[in-house]
Amino acid sequence: MSQLIIRGGSRLEGETEIQGAKNSVLPILAATLLTAGQVELRGCPRLRDVDASVRILEGLGCTARWEGPDTLTVDTRSLEGCAVSEALMREMRSSAIFLGAILARCGQAELSYPGGCELGPRPIDLHLSGLRDLGAEIDDAGGVLHCKALRLRGREVVLSFPSVGATENLMLAACGASGVTTIANAAREPEIVDLQGFLTACGARVSGAGTSTVSVEGGRTLHGCTYTVMPDRIAAATYLCAAASAGGEIFLRRAREEHLSTVTAVLREAGCAIRSDEEGVACACRGRPAAVRPVRTAPYPGFPTDAQAILMAALLRCRGAAVFEENMFENRYRHVDELARMGANIRVSGRAAVVTGVERLHGAPVRCTDLRGGAALCVAALAAEGETEVSETGHIDRGYEDIARDLRALGAEARRLER
Ligand code: EPZ
Repeated sequence: MSQLIIRGGSRLEGETEIQGAKNSVLPILAATLLTAGQVELRGCPRLRDVDASVRILEGLGCTARWEGPDTLTVDTRSLEGCAVSEALMREMRSSAIFLGAILARCGQAELSYPGGCELGPRPIDLHLSGLRDLGAEIDDAGGVLHCKALRLRGREVVLSFPSVGATENLMLAACGASGVTTIANAAREPEIVDLQGFLTACGARVSGAGTSTVSVEGGRTLHGCTYTVMPDRIAAATYLCAAASAGGEIFLRRAREEHLSTVTAVLREAGCAIRSDEEGVACACRGRPAAVRPVRTAPYPGFPTDAQAILMAALLRCRGAAVFEENMFENRYRHVDELARMGANIRVSGRAAVVTGVERLHGAPVRCTDLRGGAALCVAALAAEGETEVSETGHIDRGYEDIARDLRALGAEARRLER
């Protein structure tokens, strides 16, 4: 069991390179099932969720090999199955993303319902109704999804909510459908644009990603390719918030401000000086953050729900109050009790959380409750006097290659302790 030991109170000074995006590489790994060839993914982050996806591909008879620190080569030509075991489905909630790709490749699929997670129930009704629109027969009795799609047929599919996962699943299934599929009310996240980039590099005809209408011309044979995964905008947001929390001057190589403009807008309001160019994003913060206008999470291009806990941690010592409204998940304030152990003053009522800025925070033993809540504890620890012990760090390892390494590169006193 490992812990992170962070000693707060010193300003940050340094630079680090932003890892590849977890929420882009996961659907891209599922999309490799659509290609008859070898795929080389560069800038691929070494994460627990990537390991879980590799295990799913290997369980289907495919091969995957690390060719260097961040290059993963995948070959799905040897695919021989269409079922994903319950154990593997439980390892990672976003494993539902494999459904559309397996259906498109094999004409059938058998997956157990992906578990809920720390954020609350994670239904996939939008995924299933969209796949049924494309002609899939799905029997979801007894916790296992038995899916058959002898012929997927392209058509217009309207999402009642711009679900990221459902958009991605339907893009992948549509590659295996005859004719053109248009996904209306599609999610617009940058990771959807990256998935379109990958599919296009494999010879697919996909357009519209980043807008609310994505079109896919199905029935094309896709070949392998070499593709570089986009930088992780939430990891970048994490380190910008670390600078806002502790003060200091940092540079994030590869970070792209256009992917996180709602986060940088709030940080500028809090008093940070942020500058960006094609190399990355620079951030300089001094003293306690100023109070900011209410932060409401929403689908992209709104404020990202994944940055809510992280920004909250950065504003614990703000001069005044900060109001948050979490509109995407029903259980995404589990980090609040742990932050309170460090002296934070936060009141939660339903979807709203009100942070009243305090003069001081103090180090304490705290426990990760989920991926981004765990990262928030690290951000808060940087501003706390004394040492903070963060345990259950497995949650953080799902989405950050090595948060202690990156924080040290930015000048923080952070180390991992294997118990
Ligand atoms: C993706 O999850 C991300 N995960 C999440 O990041 C992110 O928080 C989320 O998008 C929103 O941006 C990956 O990309 C792997 P949704 P996803 O479908 O696809 C409800 C992280 O920390 N919903 O847009 O599951 C759902 O319950 C993770 O990196 C349905 O009701 O998000 C949620 O309340 C956490 N039915 C809301 O929509 C469905 O069929 C948003 O879900 C699908 C979703």
